[in-house]
Amino acid sequence: MNINFKRLAVTGAAVLLSSSLVACGANEAQTGGDNGGDNGEGGSKTIALLLPESKTTRYEAFDRPMFEAKVAELCDDCEVIYFNADQDEAKQDQQVTSAIDQGASVLVLDPVNGDGAGGMVRDAQDSGATVIAYDRFIEGADYYMSFDNETVGRMQGEALVEAMGDEGGILMLNGAPSDPNAAQFKAGAHGAIDGSGVEILAEFDNPDWSPDNAQQWTSDQLSKYDLADVKGVYAANDGQAGGVVAALTGAGLAKDELPPITGQDAELAAIQRIVAGEQSMTIYKPIKIEAETAAEVAVALVNGEDVGETEDFRGVDSFIFDPIVVTQDNVGDTVVADGFYDVGDICTDAYADACTAAGLE
Ligand code: GAL
Repeated sequence: MNINFKRLAVTGAAVLLSSSLVACGANEAQTGGDNGGDNGEGGSKTIALLLPESKTTRYEAFDRPMFEAKVAELCDDCEVIYFNADQDEAKQDQQVTSAIDQGASVLVLDPVNGDGAGGMVRDAQDSGATVIAYDRFIEGADYYMSFDNETVGRMQGEALVEAMGDEGGILMLNGAPSDPNAAQFKAGAHGAIDGSGVEILAEFDNPDWSPDNAQQWTSDQLSKYDLADVKGVYAANDGQAGGVVAALTGAGLAKDELPPITGQDAELAAIQRIVAGEQSMTIYKPIKIEAETAAEVAVALVNGEDVGETEDFRGVDSFIFDPIVVTQDNVGDTVVADGFYDVGDICTDAYADACTAAGLE
């Protein structure tokens, strides 16, 4: 049974509708469940946004401001309370408690640990709140939204194999085992790499996604493998790719000698590396659509309105978006055309020549 009913059941209107709600599912349930914006239990217009970390730039630079702006645009009397867990699961648990104590009726939760977040979801639901699992899946959440994460991994793997001409050894840096997305990226990437001519020399699941850990691990591998034998690096995201570049250049490679390196998130530093030929690709996930959909769903929920069409993902009503590969060839047609970055953001003095060569002006 979906938990929206649980949330709505605390309002008078929903109690009247309860028997039909059980039968008709989440979206229809919301249509009939206008709570009129009352501020009783579960009916507040306080929306909590809980993000997992801050070393990956997307969260503070895009997810948070885009979400907050959209809520403000759609709802005059909604309040957003914001938390960042800094990759600390216990801290996130306290933040969920704090959000509940502050009367949040919707929690948009990007969990540090997907598997460990079930208790947080239940606590929130027990308080009458609705939980949107944001970007990372949580079983038992009321809604989920993310990009197609297995496709992300497959696109990274395919791009790497292609850039390497289907041969040579790689180092493989996956995301945090606590992050359910990381397993999907990894599965997708293995699907493209395994069975190709590319050989995985060593592989690591980076416990906190951190660039520092990625750099350290890569440096450690260079005492086991000859630098000349590392013909490519699979890095699951751009933060880690930055650590890989630091390790490889620290070991003596010039920037124009770097092997193909993958990434994800279209971080500004990664786009600059791509333009300069120091990273071969990233995955651009237009975060606007994810953050704004989360805001729209959250506002619909506090207003008791329909959340729109969903698809099923592992039993949860979901919104799944398409990722986009970015290479030197399409920086202008993707992140620039979308307004994610201005050419001026990318083409600072240090990248002016590379930008000219790449046709970005
Ligand atoms: C993933 C997310 C990526 C990246 C990574 C590190 O769950 O989908 O975009 O940010 O976490 O935080």
